[in-house]
Amino acid sequence: MAKLQKSSGNYSGHHNAPMSGSHHLPSIDNVDDLADLENIETAMQASHKSVVSREKEIGEMAEKPSGPVGLDIGTSHIVMAQNAGRHINTVHQLNAFFTIPYSKFTKKILVENDITFYAKDDQFYILGYSAENFANMFNTNTRRTMEKGILSSHEDEGITVLQSIISSLLAKTDKQEVVCFSMPGVPVDGSASVVYHESIIKMYLASLGYRPISINEGLATIMSELADDNFTGIGISMGGGMCNICLSYLSVPVLNFSIQKGGDYIDAMVGASVGEPATRIKMIKEGTLNLASTPQGRVETALDIYYVDLVSHLLSTLEHVLKTTDKMPNINNPLPIALSGGTVLPKGFKNLFEKGLRKVNLPVEISEVRIADDPLNTTAKGAMVMALSEEI
Ligand SMILES: Nc1ncnc2c1ncn2[C@@H]1O[C@H](COP(=O)(O)OP(=O)(O)O)[C@@H](O)[C@H]1O
Ligand SMILES: [Mg+2]
Repeated sequence: MAKLQKSSGNYSGHHNAPMSGSHHLPSIDNVDDLADLENIETAMQASHKSVVSREKEIGEMAEKPSGPVGLDIGTSHIVMAQNAGRHINTVHQLNAFFTIPYSKFTKKILVENDITFYAKDDQFYILGYSAENFANMFNTNTRRTMEKGILSSHEDEGITVLQSIISSLLAKTDKQEVVCFSMPGVPVDGSASVVYHESIIKMYLASLGYRPISINEGLATIMSELADDNFTGIGISMGGGMCNICLSYLSVPVLNFSIQKGGDYIDAMVGASVGEPATRIKMIKEGTLNLASTPQGRVETALDIYYVDLVSHLLSTLEHVLKTTDKMPNINNPLPIALSGGTVLPKGFKNLFEKGLRKVNLPVEISEVRIADDPLNTTAKGAMVMALSEEI
């Protein structure tokens, strides 16, 4: 049976992941170890469950979970996962906001319509899916708290808004439940500070009464998808703002990194190439793109080109990282690759990725490429599996 490495602290991999390889199995006469084993068994079972997902309804109260929680803090969406009998339940909220001028009248209307908002400096900050409705009415875009996977440095209110969006999902508690939240790996192509982002979120979750533990987003993909492979392989999460890559051996993150390109990059580059707004490109991409068929017209052709470009950038970076790292384990068996995140959703993506794989020369053998069961919920599910194994 597969074993799950248990450790304390965090799994974001920034602080030198344990690499001793001494996977001790707890002795049964120790009560704590026995509890550990039970938790790990529960976590293993959870990783085989399917996800039931829903959108956070406007006006719906935040939950007070009883049990460990997985939290995917993504550039586009925040997804919360909980273990629920035969399934895993996830709720997703848009990680976006919109501001409108303050007035007493508007306040009354917002309250009556159950809109999630807070007031500051003569403005109302409308949060989550409610913000999207407002932006559509004003024929403009919502604003985002995060950019390329971490807190945006362009939005002064980013932290407060992100905290409020998180608290629209998670209510204050005194139960000290474990919340495992996703963290990006250090970007190889940027200078962004992941540590700042991680600390801000950790402090906030602790202030709400939870026990926060971070998990690298690539590792979360592995925890969710590679249970039958002893949690050994490469997990790649391809979202809007970035892609996260992790190589794990028996659930231990050996190395991880991120690239600050993803679905948003495709939208922007295609938009610039054909002279259309990125939001329109995004709609076409999410609606009808089929990477398996010959592209028709300028937009489809450009989408195809930039999908190939993104995958090729990701894989050549992976090749470079694997060839230059001094952490490379001696793995004899070929490794599976699991792919998750919204960017892997179009038909034909797996094929496109496999084609890209044949063009690079990775120093490890790959056994297969697998698309996650539910790519938009994989990170939250994997984080929850980790949270279950961490419960005291
Ligand atoms: N059906 C789809 N086809 C192609 N791309 C999609 C689809 N659905 C969502 N996306 C893209 O996936 C990205 C968001 O994925 P997600 O995993 O939620 O990201 P994040 O982790 O950044 O929040 C966006 O770029 C979005 O356009
Ligand atoms: Mg994500």
